[in-house]
Amino acid sequence: MLILNKTAGVFFKPSKRKVYEFLRSFNFHPGTLFLHKIVLGIETSCDDTAAAVVDETGNVLGEAIHSQTEVHLKTGGIVPAVAQQLHRDNIQRIVQEALSASRISPSDLSAIATTIKPGLALSLGVGLSFSLQLVGQLKKPFIPIHHMEAHALTIRLTNKVEFPFLVLLISGGHCLLALVQGVSDFLLLGKSLDIAPGDMLDKVARRLSLIKHPECSTMSGGKAIEHLAKQGNRFHFDIKPPLHHAKNCDFSFTGLQQVTNKRIMKKEKEEGIEEGQVLSSAADIAATVQHTMACHIVKRTHRAILFCKQRDLLPQNNAVLVASGGVASNFYVRRALEILTNATQCTLLCPPPRLCTDNGIMIA
Ligand code: KG4
Ligand code: ZN
Repeated sequence: MLILNKTAGVFFKPSKRKVYEFLRSFNFHPGTLFLHKIVLGIETSCDDTAAAVVDETGNVLGEAIHSQTEVHLKTGGIVPAVAQQLHRDNIQRIVQEALSASRISPSDLSAIATTIKPGLALSLGVGLSFSLQLVGQLKKPFIPIHHMEAHALTIRLTNKVEFPFLVLLISGGHCLLALVQGVSDFLLLGKSLDIAPGDMLDKVARRLSLIKHPECSTMSGGKAIEHLAKQGNRFHFDIKPPLHHAKNCDFSFTGLQQVTNKRIMKKEKEEGIEEGQVLSSAADIAATVQHTMACHIVKRTHRAILFCKQRDLLPQNNAVLVASGGVASNFYVRRALEILTNATQCTLLCPPPRLCTDNGIMIA
């Protein structure tokens, strides 16, 4: 049906305002053309090919997703060209599945929304090219979506959350704290100075060869760490949370990864095993890393809450903290954030785990 050979470079990107104006005028006479606005969302920014059909009231009419996790686990990380090929192999099927599940004919769509940034250029390009073809064929408006804004706003699908609220986005590619003042009005309060927490967990999981662990072989690095940590002792060794004295809301995870690597090497020597085999103390290491990461995330978030309250950027009582992104599906991190929000008279809201990781619903 669709030829996926156009590059993102030839893509004409209308301004968001123009798209919204067009959409509004498009639905000016409800009942004549559409009863509801129905949007197809397409996500290919990293290693998930995802699509969903959502109506204007937030009802998910159809959804489909293809995860590349298993393939990337085998190659020890995401190889962009491999991710690109897998997106190409799957995008048409995934979009078709989402549309079929929704029972919406493509001609009844009001618009097509697609992630345009940030992400892996090769992966983003597949979603963009596909959408460009579809938009052209169906003569539908296009809505360019910022991946992180989509993560930040997903909570409004499941909860009635008013602006402003604080958002903590923690995933494999991103780590930021921002004040959300409107649909596309974000005040960035802090970000990672190096890698994202999910990236750190993925690297630690790889170094621990958790793919060879019978219970974790199909899990992402972060999920494998969470799973093993339940069986481990988090005080197995002591690591100071990073940026202890920094008077801002920034994050850092490279140091934690390096200290953990050193600890793994030491343990390998002690246990007399080679790199590539699973340590008997892998669960303790997982628990310690997860605990230190959670402490760091909570401390930086605490600073952001105090900053916003001092400047009346957030209400003094019942301010909302939204935690989203793949790492926010971690229940240990969630529990730690809950302790923080209880202590600061805030409310913690997290989308359900399947909406925390990449998906088409948040784009639609
Ligand atoms: O949001 P996401 O699906 O993709 C982006 O990075 O945008 O997040 C994927 C990341 C991976 O690094 C993965 O290891 C991590 O989220 N992750 C987790 C958990 N599930 C996925 N990290 C900690 N605990 C989990 N349960
Ligand atoms: Zn994401």
